Amino acid sequence: MSSASPASLVFPPGFTFGTATASYQIEGAYDEDGRGPSIWDTFSHTPGRTEGGATGDVACDHYHRYPEDVELLSRLGVDSYRYSIAWSRIQPQGTGAVNEKGLDFYDRLTDSLLAAGISPAVTLYHWDLPQALEDRGGWRVRETAEHFAEYTRVVVDRLGDRVGRWITLNEPFCSSFVGYAEGRHAPGVRAGTPALAAAHHLLLAHGHAVQVLREAGAREVGITLNLDRIEAASSSPADQAALRRAETLHNEVWTEPLFAGRYPTGEAETWGTLADGSYRRDGDLDIIGAPLDFVGLNFYRPLTVADAPHREADLSLRTAMDIGVVETDPYGTRHTTMGWPVVPEAFTDLLVDLDKRYPNLPPVYITENGSAEADTVSADGSVHDADRVTYLQDHLRALVGAIDAGVDVRGYYCWSMLDNFEWARGYGQRFGIVRVDYDTQERTPKDSYHWFRELIAAHRAAHPATEQEH
Ligand code: FCB
Repeated sequence: MSSASPASLVFPPGFTFGTATASYQIEGAYDEDGRGPSIWDTFSHTPGRTEGGATGDVACDHYHRYPEDVELLSRLGVDSYRYSIAWSRIQPQGTGAVNEKGLDFYDRLTDSLLAAGISPAVTLYHWDLPQALEDRGGWRVRETAEHFAEYTRVVVDRLGDRVGRWITLNEPFCSSFVGYAEGRHAPGVRAGTPALAAAHHLLLAHGHAVQVLREAGAREVGITLNLDRIEAASSSPADQAALRRAETLHNEVWTEPLFAGRYPTGEAETWGTLADGSYRRDGDLDIIGAPLDFVGLNFYRPLTVADAPHREADLSLRTAMDIGVVETDPYGTRHTTMGWPVVPEAFTDLLVDLDKRYPNLPPVYITENGSAEADTVSADGSVHDADRVTYLQDHLRALVGAIDAGVDVRGYYCWSMLDNFEWARGYGQRFGIVRVDYDTQERTPKDSYHWFRELIAAHRAAHPATEQEH
């Protein structure tokens, strides 16, 4: 299949290749070695919340099998591995007492990565808030941002001598709007103003964590966002206005405070009186907008939106905060098993537009990109995931397009290293470049793994003199 030849994709010297995972999605060992419960334990154990009642109790058993997983990463030849820390392993109550055994686990993982020549990229928060903090209001309350700073200090004190790249939060859009407005993710709340407060407190938590990381001398500090490439279903004034509201909800809530030092201008049009600002204080913008070394972006698929005239009645709206927007699907393309349309050129457009819009945009890492496919195991035990290979190849080509257009992209982390617990969608959605048999925990590298390995090897061969990271 010459069209899929990795050598045809050319990246700048020093470009980082990696894979990504998240603690609750792979670790399992949910009640071992002093780990406290997180909102995802509570949510997944509540009947009806996840497909098939799936939980992360065992997941990929990575907590015990990490040496094998690091070996797989090593054979893949990645420069870097992005993993997240489970806050409730470190502080079972979310604040105060520190669980040494939790820190020891991440110590071991980090050391094995370094021994394999792989540079760690740590996400401090990938959605698994300690349940004890949720019981005190979770992200709806400001104190949680302060607790996050305290937790960050504990982690950087232990790992800061070996971890260079730090990501404060993963996709705060999901933590706030999917968790507290739509209720499709933990903690499963459907609210209005409290979800906006959660978004603000997440940003504040990020700002506090940046300060703590800087004080600790961290080399590279950033945040990961799932900004969306959004288009209007038509040029009608109503759909164009819906587009602006969707831009506020999905993108500007994050990009304006982080990169332009202000709150989004379209708040009133989007949320009306729900955005009452009661959760903001003077000085917050200065904390939130502290300069970053990079922004991490996760990209999977674009969105198209239309005006939803029957607001209150329309249950297809994504959030309980009715913004009068409905998603449409005009894409006559293949869709992954998530139901997401495959539109690689939207990836280029998102990056190029963002770069134009924010002159202060820091360098970009793609911290997630990948596809869920209906993989099958062949008689000889291999997994020929041709659709995933094509997805990765086309998105990497789209990324090269953005780099050629002048966007400063420094690296790409494929989602995901392993098949894993895909949140409310359970184990049916397989995103891994390595298959996990959940009965035996056997790992099988798929064709996409081999393809990605060749891509990385070809990049190295093209830039032999380049110092890789670490
Ligand atoms: C992102 C999440 C990640 C994974 C992918 C498919 O939104 O950050 O954990 O679930 O989607």
